[in-house]
Amino acid sequence: MGACPSSVHHSSIRGTIVSIIIRETAGPARGGPGFHLRNEAFSYAFCVLRNGHLGALHAGAPIRGQEGFDDLLKPEPRPYSCSVYRDDPSLSLEHLRLEYPCYGTTDFRLPAIRVEPAAGAVLCDFKYRSWRRFAGRSAIPGLPSTYAESPDEAETLEVELFDELIGATLVLSYTVWRDFAVISRGATIRNDGPRSFALSACASASVDVPMAEGTVLTMSGAWARERELTTRPIAPGLAASYSLRGISGHNGGPFIALASPGTREDSGEVLAMALVYSGNYEAAADTDSFGVTRLRIGLDTREFRWNLEPGESFSTPEALVVWSGRGYEGMSDAFHRIMRTRLARGPWRDRPRPVIANTWEACYWDVNEKLVLELGREAAAAGVELLVVDDGWFSGRRDDSRALGDWRPDPVKFPRGLGPVADDLAKLGLGFGIWMEPEMVSEDSELFRAHPDWVSGDPARPRSPGRNQFVLDLTRPEVAEFVFRSVRDVLSSARVLYLKWDMNRPITEAFSPALPADRRGEFFHRYLLSLYGVIERLAAEFPQVLFESCAGGGGRFDPGMLPYAPQSWTSDDTDAIERLRIQWGASFAYPLSMTDAHVSASPNHQVGRITPIGVRAAVAAFGVSGWELDFRALDAPDRNLAARWTAWWKENRALMASGDFRRLRGFADGDGNEVAWAVVARDRSHAIVLHVRTLAKPNPAWSRLRLRGLDPDRLYRVRRTEASAGAPHPATGAEWRTRGDELQAIGLPVEDGRSITGDFRTLVFELSPAD
Ligand code: GLA
Repeated sequence: MGACPSSVHHSSIRGTIVSIIIRETAGPARGGPGFHLRNEAFSYAFCVLRNGHLGALHAGAPIRGQEGFDDLLKPEPRPYSCSVYRDDPSLSLEHLRLEYPCYGTTDFRLPAIRVEPAAGAVLCDFKYRSWRRFAGRSAIPGLPSTYAESPDEAETLEVELFDELIGATLVLSYTVWRDFAVISRGATIRNDGPRSFALSACASASVDVPMAEGTVLTMSGAWARERELTTRPIAPGLAASYSLRGISGHNGGPFIALASPGTREDSGEVLAMALVYSGNYEAAADTDSFGVTRLRIGLDTREFRWNLEPGESFSTPEALVVWSGRGYEGMSDAFHRIMRTRLARGPWRDRPRPVIANTWEACYWDVNEKLVLELGREAAAAGVELLVVDDGWFSGRRDDSRALGDWRPDPVKFPRGLGPVADDLAKLGLGFGIWMEPEMVSEDSELFRAHPDWVSGDPARPRSPGRNQFVLDLTRPEVAEFVFRSVRDVLSSARVLYLKWDMNRPITEAFSPALPADRRGEFFHRYLLSLYGVIERLAAEFPQVLFESCAGGGGRFDPGMLPYAPQSWTSDDTDAIERLRIQWGASFAYPLSMTDAHVSASPNHQVGRITPIGVRAAVAAFGVSGWELDFRALDAPDRNLAARWTAWWKENRALMASGDFRRLRGFADGDGNEVAWAVVARDRSHAIVLHVRTLAKPNPAWSRLRLRGLDPDRLYRVRRTEASAGAPHPATGAEWRTRGDELQAIGLPVEDGRSITGDFRTLVFELSPAD
């Protein structure tokens, strides 16, 4: 470990370089080596300070940094600060940029770690001990994480620190990727001492950066309004996003970014973090009075408390740290690429996702065998590939007041069970999918009557219902086993190819009587570990099943579910115009291959808006597209259009799933009346562009939509479809040829100054090689 005075390791693969440079020789302010992780897009450097703690040096543009790091570290004595050493007033942690800091000595900002020893002060003093590095990346026990498919894709540095008084070892892990502008981070803490201690904060990543100006970007929202974007100026104080709901939530999401002043889609610097986790989290930007912002992400620090007995260890979820010198677009590209290809996994990661029809908005709880087969016939005629039987199929489930937990087919609605229905759908050429909400129980259920004690909460206090239901105490092994078996039995009872795993309420009164008093603060995280464990086992046993995650729409729309469920129900709001905003917001961190988008009925069930089917289909095409309406209720022209849009999406789904997403015009631009985006193939040969003018305007201004990411030298064939008027090309389209440079410098014509075509006018442009 760390023997040589200076060690540089390069792997040069396909012209890109990933390296970890380690400088052992210490300068005056250093107490140990400096570390520099870099690839072509991102440099991340830190070092050991004189007191053995870690100092943050750089998280940003790629630099060579081979000459040493001491010029980046200039401790100065400052008034009214306390110093670590009597003989050196310059070493005040408050005035240094720190890497994984702790509170309690001379730093006063939000700590990354908080350890409560069995006795004595709540302080910790982790000092550098050693480092090691290895090719590839190792898994985190019990938690979802990114993975390298071959050891040359990534290199990992582990830095070990030790608090002698507590007897605690802290291992910080950093993976630098060959192909992504991402550093994967995490921490493991081990009790190597004779006495137990508790962890009450343990961030996945924390770094101090010299950013006093710019923007803090977080996600916010509510049910049916998920993934709204919140921007705040970077200013002294705290800007944060968090969840204490037991799910990552509709109201935020484990993501935070700092952007330099004036950052746009394609320019400006962005440092961002996302947490690979689906429960309580905290993402914070803490700006001090000296122009330094601490960016931190990890488990929530308010309710969390974890006991570590001698010999035990605790690992945090993984944080994805992204840097972009190409504005928000570069940030999104990095998140999309790593999440789609090295976080999502299993046979469905790269497979074309089936076009599904879901029964929910078609019939809600009134689902039955006859209806499923009728819908199936219509859906199959429209080119749909799989039918999902949503809520309402199981014993006694007539509405949301009963039956969760009783996962047997309702004998009246499905007298033959699920198997024959799946077989009949197969004869129509359709796969069969099913909805479950396995973590829940209704009070009016056989499960509740048999096991009232399986509900999470304090039996001495009232439990708050949510959608008339309660959350099972997954921290108990027998309950987790019940959940596993319930799902396994359903999946093995029929040819199930798809499972929608829902979770329709947050966790309140979080408590398990089975946990000892000193482990109460472990409830939420234990719940998540158990949930991941159950889904992991199911995914291993049923590799053919495509899992979709869902929590009342986008309540668990986060990176943590991706390894198990490569796609996620984005929102219960299926209105096309609302979805523009929701899918726009989601795209900041999440890939289109994860973002489910269904065409639903008009008038829309959530907002009552009336839109043409082509508008709904065009917006839903930018994601994992599907249908969520009663095909029988469509008139003949709309049925025809449904079939044509389905065929069109199938032709384009590979591009939608793998291309680069380009946000071109949004609600924050101009008068906010137009939204435009594009998906551009990685080789820049093809692109599909969407432009929606939400409200019609008389006598509109001439307008062109400039594209980005094309090959400027290429001659493209452009096919224009007015989706609001009908089907995709060629029925309503026009076609011409233009070179990439012109499309980027001048743009596509989206308003010719004459046409008045009603509200929600939607244009789709398809670009393909013309030569
Ligand atoms: C949640 C989901 C919906 C649907 C219903 C069924 O709200 O988001 O898509 O599955 O549950 O109850």
